[in-house]
This record gives sequence, structure tokens and C-alpha cells, in this order.
Amino acid sequence: MERSMNLEKITLGTCYYPEHWPEGMWEEDLRRMLENGIEVVRVAEFAWSKIEPREGEFTYEFFDRFLETAERIGMKVIFCTPSATPPAWLTNRYPEVLNARQDGVLYRHGCRRHYNYNSPKYQELVKRIVEKSAAHYAAHPAIIGWQIDNELNCEVNEFYSESDTAAFRVFLQEKYGTLDRLNEAWGTVFWNQTYTEWEEIYVPRPTPSNSTNPHEVLDYMRFISDSACRFAGMQSDILKKYVKPGDFITTNGLFGNLDNHRMTEESLDFITYDSYPNFAYCLDSYEADDKSMRDRKWSRNLAEARAISPNFGIMEQQSGANGWNSRMEAPTPKPGQMTLWTMQSIAHGADYVSYFRWRTCTMGTEIYWHGILDYSGRDNRRLFELKEIHEKTGRLSCVAGSRYQAKVGLVRDYDNLWDSVLDAWHGRVERESGKGLFEACQRKHTPFDFCYLDHMEAEELSKYQVLFYPHATMLTQQMTDKLTAYVEQGGCLVLGCRTGYKDETGKCVMSKLPGLLAPLTGTDIPEYTFVSPADGTVYADWDGTQIEAAVFNDLLAPLTEDAKVEARFSSSYYAGTPALISRKQGKGRVYYFGGAFSEHTAEVFLEKLGVAEPYADTVVLPEGCELAVREGEQTYLFVLNYLDECAAVELKKECVDLFTGEKVSGSVELRPFEAKVLTVGK
Ligand code: GAL
Repeated sequence: MERSMNLEKITLGTCYYPEHWPEGMWEEDLRRMLENGIEVVRVAEFAWSKIEPREGEFTYEFFDRFLETAERIGMKVIFCTPSATPPAWLTNRYPEVLNARQDGVLYRHGCRRHYNYNSPKYQELVKRIVEKSAAHYAAHPAIIGWQIDNELNCEVNEFYSESDTAAFRVFLQEKYGTLDRLNEAWGTVFWNQTYTEWEEIYVPRPTPSNSTNPHEVLDYMRFISDSACRFAGMQSDILKKYVKPGDFITTNGLFGNLDNHRMTEESLDFITYDSYPNFAYCLDSYEADDKSMRDRKWSRNLAEARAISPNFGIMEQQSGANGWNSRMEAPTPKPGQMTLWTMQSIAHGADYVSYFRWRTCTMGTEIYWHGILDYSGRDNRRLFELKEIHEKTGRLSCVAGSRYQAKVGLVRDYDNLWDSVLDAWHGRVERESGKGLFEACQRKHTPFDFCYLDHMEAEELSKYQVLFYPHATMLTQQMTDKLTAYVEQGGCLVLGCRTGYKDETGKCVMSKLPGLLAPLTGTDIPEYTFVSPADGTVYADWDGTQIEAAVFNDLLAPLTEDAKVEARFSSSYYAGTPALISRKQGKGRVYYFGGAFSEHTAEVFLEKLGVAEPYADTVVLPEGCELAVREGEQTYLFVLNYLDECAAVELKKECVDLFTGEKVSGSVELRPFEAKVLTVGK
């Protein structure tokens, strides 16, 4: 079911930490926020001790005073549960609540997110603080919604405490029932790993070559996700008893080893994402290559958020330089970048954008993680830019609730995602195709959506003209049925190498490849190979166009009479062997490509399948600009210039510039980092 952030207008907010500032500053801060367009503050996500300073001693006055100030001034509040940072009294008295490294060393007090999801003690104490907070604060008129915890699975997304081992055993008992079934699923006969008692099973522990049984690790990743989902669910169940009608429950961020779809479906009204595109300019992550997408890459993350909630929120949007005192050195955003990144978020479906943070903290690990204001709080360039952003978003009210438009879908599922993290071979093809398809769609101005097969029905897929499912290495009958139904109903499905060679335990199948998808694709794979660096680039010839078949090659053969060889390898010892086979089924067609999709290859597919540049009759843009389209009462074109130079755009139809209200057509120039939002008649 789709639950969205249905706001009446694009709304701005900020993250505020009343506990970091003298109370005398609150009122002026809140007034100043309102003057500059901030209408919502998020508070309390790290403030457990302000509500329970000592075990069992609850005191509500601090946030009562803050909420009273907010209400008086007209500021709305998102209130958080504080479980991301347990107090010192708690971790000292109950060290079993701590998370551990794989070697068993406990993470101690001093940072954050050092707890584990499975400690019964932590669950008991979290339930109590959530219950107390919700019972006391939820009716407050200033509150409009709740955030659970802060960035579940951020900092660390692996858990190795004793509570985790105990819970892992229960998870496995529920899943397999008997040890025989577990031994079978994990292939424990290999290297004599057979288990004879449940107590012999642990979360993965250090092993030679850091290689634990992969089928076990896959279940362990599912277990971490399950633990995080249950932890969020436990809090959400309590909050639901108390929230006022209309108030929402959310959480922020998208992190690994977590089925964010399941968590949202079970426990949230919608997801919010924390968008920090300035990481692209960090000392340790800057890519000098001119072809790098840098901050534009965050559009991929925003598409992930949209795959969960079509109209999501940004709980933390970059407004200043990155930096912990220990790492992540990065520059202050240049003039225009804060606006550009805000518009990037809105372009992809965000209706709420909240800046991290109002004031830069003067203490602790994040003294260099700048907010809108610097330490002194004086008016500065970023505050002026915020004011301008507010003027602009004021003109975008009509965009709220409108939906991002895409005819191309990139299919994923959590099991394959986790398997690609665990399995280096799978990871290689997945990374190549993930990057190649994203960059091709970006440079060809072809909007796409991520489609999570494990959370979508075949009917929902049918709105996409073309689906790329680059490497469904793990394949089940249910997935095969959905894909077959999509093709039969008229869809065009493109599969890449390594499809269907594993089952859901991650073990390899013994049927002829591509396994369950052999009948649909009409394709056989008699042989395959990794492309070694010694082989150079392997190409395939597709009607005279040379496309790279990157990383791994499936050497194909038609399996059925109606299978059509579209392209053949043109290099290596298998030159002449089919590299791309297509087959019609029902009203649609399926393509099997024996390689990973590098950017150029992906571009050729988009062009040959007729889905590249769907808005070329309206707007022609240079490669350095992104085009995103939202549709509601009107069609809204977002044109985003990520470059520190002017960009020339050609409008082939008359549009209205929503920021100026003027009609525009023909050649239009965008300034460095400028974003334009244009409406065009449907
Ligand atoms: C986010 C986090 C914030 C703050 C910010 C900057 O991941 O939610 O609390 O730490 O990053 O580091």
C-alpha cells in the first residue's frame, strides 16, 4: 500500500538541538527560523537523558518548555524517540545492551548507535522511554509527527553481541524448524560444518581468510534486517497508541542490511532520507575523473527513497560543510549548491526538506559538520540562500503531491542486493551495471525508477515500458512468475549475465542456465567466463554497433526456435557466439545479454529499445544537466545544472518558469549550479 507524505505545499524544516543551547536562545532561534522560511523543527533524537536522567526517573519539563515555546511562536515539531544514544547509566549498568565487533570486543559509550537490537534489557528500557515520551508529549499541539530512533543501521550495520547470537538461533529455528533442514540449506557438509545442536550456531565469528559459510552469512544479513524491522515495529506499535489523528510516524536514512520497504510497510507512514551530496567533495571520496557524477549521484539514492514512498521527506538536507573532528573533511557548499541539492531532492519526490542543522555545534564529534549558521550564529551566506530557497519553494506549492515520471525501471530485490555485498563475483557485475545503467539514464535524460520485485506485483510493473534486471543471480519461482507476467502483458524485460544460477539459499542450481528463466528467455548458456584483465575489453556486435560485454560473459545459444540472436561476441576466443538473444512472449519481449551493462552499453539498449530521451521534443539539455519530471495537475520539468559553469538548454515548447512566472522558450542559459522548474502543457 502506498502511504505518502501528503503535504499541501513544499515545506522546509531544520534539525534543532534545544539541549545544545542555553534556553534563552530558543525563542530567538525559532523566530529567526520562521522569518527565513523554516516551519518545522526535528528534536530530541539524541536526548534520552533529558527525559530519563537516571534509571526510572522521568522528567518532562525540559521538552515541555521547548514545546510550549514552539507552540507560542507557531513552530511545528517532529519529536523523536531517543534510542540511537543510550545514556551512560544504562550501558554501564547493562553492558549486554552493547553491540560488539566481530571479534567480540564491545562498542562502548562515547559515540552513538553502540547498542544492539536484540538485547531483552534494551528492548525493555526502550519500550519504557518510548511509552513515557509518547504518553506525555504526543497530544501536544506543536507536534506533527514522530521519528523513530535515528538512522537505523548507520555507523555499523553488523551485530555480534551475545543477544544477537541468541536471537539468531531463534530466527533460524523459526525459519528451518530442524537442524537437518538448516544443514541442508547451508550446505554444511562442505568443509565439515554440520551442526548437531542449536547452541553450536553463532552469528558469524572470525575465521581464516575472513570467509564464513556464505549461505549462513546470507541468512545472517536477513536476520539483521529482521532485527532492525522488529525494533522499529516495537517502537511504532507504542507510538500508534498515542499519536494524534493526522500525525505521522517515520524514520530517517537508508542504510545497508535493512529491508526498508518492509520496515516502512510494517511500521511507518513514509520514509525520510538524509541527503548529503557534499560527500562527493570529501577529501577521501572525491573522484577527480571528469566523467564522475559526483553530487549528481545522490539522485540514485533519492530514487531509492522514492521506491519506498513516492512522496517522501528529507529529514536531513546538506546545508554546510561535512566533517567530524576525526574524518570526512569537505568544503563549504558553493553559492547555489544548497539550492541545487534542495531542488534535486524535490525533483525526485521530496515534499518536505529539512536542513541539517540550524546552528553548527560548538562541542563534540561534529564541530566541523556545519549547519545553516556558523558557531556565532551571525547572518551568513547560507542563511541568505535559505531565504531565497524559501521564496522559490513558495512558488512550487503546486508540485507537492505530484509524482515522479519514469518509463524505465531498474529492478532489484533485497536478497540479490545482500548476496552482491557478500559474493565478490556477484558484487562486480552488480556494481558495473548499477553504475552503468544509472549514468546512462542520467546522461540520456531518461528518468528511471527502482522497482523492488519482492515488494511489487506484476500489475505495478506494467506501467514501465522497459525493465532492466541486470543480475538476478538468485531466482525463485515467484520472481520468475512475476517477470513472465510482466512480459506477457506487453513489457520489455532486459536481463544481464549470471541470471538464475543460484536458489534462495544462495546455492548454485544444477539445471541448465539461466535456470528458471530458460523457458522465458529461450536461451541456453553452455559456457561462461569471468573477463580477466588479461582479456582486455570484450565487445559484442549488435547490428553494427559495438557494445562492451563487461566483467563476466555468458556464452549464449538459442534454446527455442523463436529465440532470435540479436548480437554476437566480436572479440575473444568466443567471437561469433551469441551475446544477446531476444524472444517474444505474449505481448512483450525479453532480452538476455551475456555481460554486465557498462554505461555505453546501457545507452545503446536505451536507444535501441526506444526509451532514451523521452522529453527530447520538449527540452534538449547538455550531459552535465539532469532532467527530472514530476506530474500532477501539470507537468513539472526540473532542470538541474551540477556544473560550476553555465549550461545552455533548448526549450522546444513554450514553458513557464515557475520561479519567475515568465514564459520561456528557445535557448535558455542556466547559471553554475542553477536549478529551474518549468511547467509545460500536457
Ligand atoms: C547524519 C546523522 C546526523 C548527523 C549528520 C552529520 O547521518 O543523522 O545526526 O550526524 O549525519 O554527520
